[in-house]
Amino acid sequence: MSAKAAKIVIREVNKNQRLVLGLASGRTPLGFYQRLRLAHKQGKVSFNNVIVFNLDEYIGLGKDYKNSYGYYLRHQFADKVGIKDSNLYLLNGRAKDLKKECQNYEAKIRKQNGIDWLILGIGKNGHIAFNEPGSSFRSITRVINLTYSSRLANAPYFNSLAKVPKRAITVGLGTIMRAKNIILMAAGKNKAEIIAQTLKSEKNRAVPASALQEHKNLIVILDKLAASCL
Ligand code: F6R
Repeated sequence: MSAKAAKIVIREVNKNQRLVLGLASGRTPLGFYQRLRLAHKQGKVSFNNVIVFNLDEYIGLGKDYKNSYGYYLRHQFADKVGIKDSNLYLLNGRAKDLKKECQNYEAKIRKQNGIDWLILGIGKNGHIAFNEPGSSFRSITRVINLTYSSRLANAPYFNSLAKVPKRAITVGLGTIMRAKNIILMAAGKNKAEIIAQTLKSEKNRAVPASALQEHKNLIVILDKLAASCL
């Protein structure tokens, strides 16, 4: 899964040095970032002019806090492959004016002419980025209340459920659908059911990822277990 996704992104960056990437955090893309780091180290790809947007951030966590997605993206990818600071767009979970932070982020994405390749994981409840069930298919970057399911899935990083932030900023489903190309990755048995619902159930707001059914350039990359209910 990771190798396939990395191969596509390396190919695309080699075609367009100024590619705009939207990148998920979490467990799923760890191997993908590892492969991108390796390819960079081996001189197979240059990320010098690549532009990166992260997709979500916990509210209340500074970008230097190790469980923040900003920290994750820097340490798993951006800082390791030479993404310029001026080309790295991270959501600020400690912005004083969160509404403005969200509006500015949408504007920054638009200014880059949108996201060329968006890399997504999926939550067990069907969230993509942090668009929780019930999210509007047209939603844009905004503040969202995290569900129990999402907080529970991330509790191990915080050592306790109580410490997992209750809110996040996330790009919207509308923002995601405007990306020119999307790769959805999933691995493991615990993603099998939601992957089947995402791809086979009728598009509905209870499964936010089902919005992807209508995307013109969607690539789904699964391991065998995640594909086992298809
Ligand atoms: C993280 C994100 C989330 C994760 C999802 C799956 O930036 O956007 O949608 O992709 O929660 O998380 P993992 O990969 O940890 O199972």
